[in-house]
Order: sequence, then C-alpha cells, then structure tokens
Amino acid sequence: MRVIIKEDYREVSREAAGMVAGLVKSKPCCTLGLATGSTPLGLYNELVRLHRDEGLSFARVKTFNLDEYYGLAPEDSRSYRHFMDENLFGKIDIRPENTSVPDGRTEIDKLEEYCTSYEEKIRASGGIDLQVLGIGSDGHIAFNEPGSSLSSRTRIVSLDPQTIRDNSRFFNKGERVPEFALSMGVGTILESREILFLASGEGKAEIVARALEGPVTSMVTASALQLHPKVSIILDSQAAGKLRRLQYYRFSEEAERKIRMPLF
Ligand code: PGA
Repeated sequence: MRVIIKEDYREVSREAAGMVAGLVKSKPCCTLGLATGSTPLGLYNELVRLHRDEGLSFARVKTFNLDEYYGLAPEDSRSYRHFMDENLFGKIDIRPENTSVPDGRTEIDKLEEYCTSYEEKIRASGGIDLQVLGIGSDGHIAFNEPGSSLSSRTRIVSLDPQTIRDNSRFFNKGERVPEFALSMGVGTILESREILFLASGEGKAEIVARALEGPVTSMVTASALQLHPKVSIILDSQAAGKLRRLQYYRFSEEAERKIRMPLF
C-alpha cells in the first residue's frame, strides 16, 4: 500500500484527480469504479475543472458506481445516481449510456438476477481499472458493513444503524433514511486492477488507522485493502493523525519522489 499524506482536503482531491486523469489520458477507454459521499466531491470538482480548462476527455470512459439506496428512484435527489449526474456526469463529456449505478428500484424478486448482471456488465467492460473508495465511520467500503464477507459480491445489504445516522444529514428532518442498499461486495472491489482510497478529517482518523494498520477483519471491511496488490491511500493530515507508522509513510513518499527525480 502506498500511503500519501497531504496537508488538507484540497490537496487530497488534487492528488487523486491527478491519478484519475493520468489513467484517462493513458487509457482513454478505461473503466472507472466510482464512489459517492462527501469525500470524493473534491476529486469530482477537480475532474470537472480538468475537463473544462484542460480538455480532459471522458468520451470513451465507462464507469460503475459502488452502491445505491434500495427503494430510491434515479430521479430522487437523494439517490446516488442523482448525486453522480449532478456532481460529475452532467458536467463532463461522458456518454450517459457508459455510466452505471445500481438501480435502486429493481423489483425484489429480480434482485439476485440484477446483481449478477451488474457484475457481468463490469466483466464485459474489461473489469475496473481504477476503483475510487471512501470509508464509512464504521469502516465500510461501499456499503459492506461490519460482518460482510471479505469475498462478498454485489447484493442487497441492510445498513448499519451508524451508517443510517451518518447519512441522515442528506435527508429532511422526519424523513425516513433508507435502511437497505445495493452494494458491490468486498470481493468485487478487490478484483479492481487498482484502488484509490481517500479519507479526510479528524473524524476518520481512528477508523483509518484500524483499517490500514489493524488486523484484516470483516469487522472493518476496509481492512481487506491490505490484501490488494495496488492501493494508493491518500489522506489529509487529520485523517492520518492516528497512524502508528506516520513518520515512515512520510519518509517513504519523500524517498519515492527522490528516486523518480532525474539525476542530471
Ligand atoms: P463520506 O462517506 O465520504 O460522506 O464520509 C464515506 C462512506 O460512507 O463510504
């Protein structure tokens, strides 16, 4: 795992956007795995800027989102489909038919078939080249709540009460926050060729330390990233605040920069 520590959220977003843009330039027909939530918003804003000001094109890119609330229609302003359209897809030149977000309105008796077909669609696109991830305060990646199998696949999951509380900020007072979601599994995520994991803020420091430096356990599904061969972890200094090996990560990033520097 490569751990990159940046001063603040803005720097995290810029570093992450640089990595995504690098892939899109070197492989214009790449497949991206995308996440929702507050964390990747800065990354999406920066990608929109790169598209607008520097002509970064997503015309041949395909995307797959990690998850969606079960029961919400794509047009619902709280749905993750809506979030993606508003914050990224509607502001770049991606073709709408090349974007996939699990359909939260899939009928209950078609769910199994639907989830299998979501995975087949990922495979048919060549697999995910780069998967963007955030982390929930209970350690989840996508909606793989504590206790999810580390080889789980796309399926319907019930949300943890902590996640429901965390997400209630996006709903009006008195409104029911969805209790179920469709989510890629940990096993699905681990099949991505490369992973870009982002976290920011003091509130994430404890869970980030457990995920990166604690045991690999289904109690913190983000800890499964320790098993992946190519993960970049980009943190701001607050989210990195409880890492035991903080000095080492800073040192090895500096060493990496030196090694890449031209000698003459
Ligand atoms: P956040 O959510 O980016 O809004 O903190 C992360 C997550 O729950 O995966």
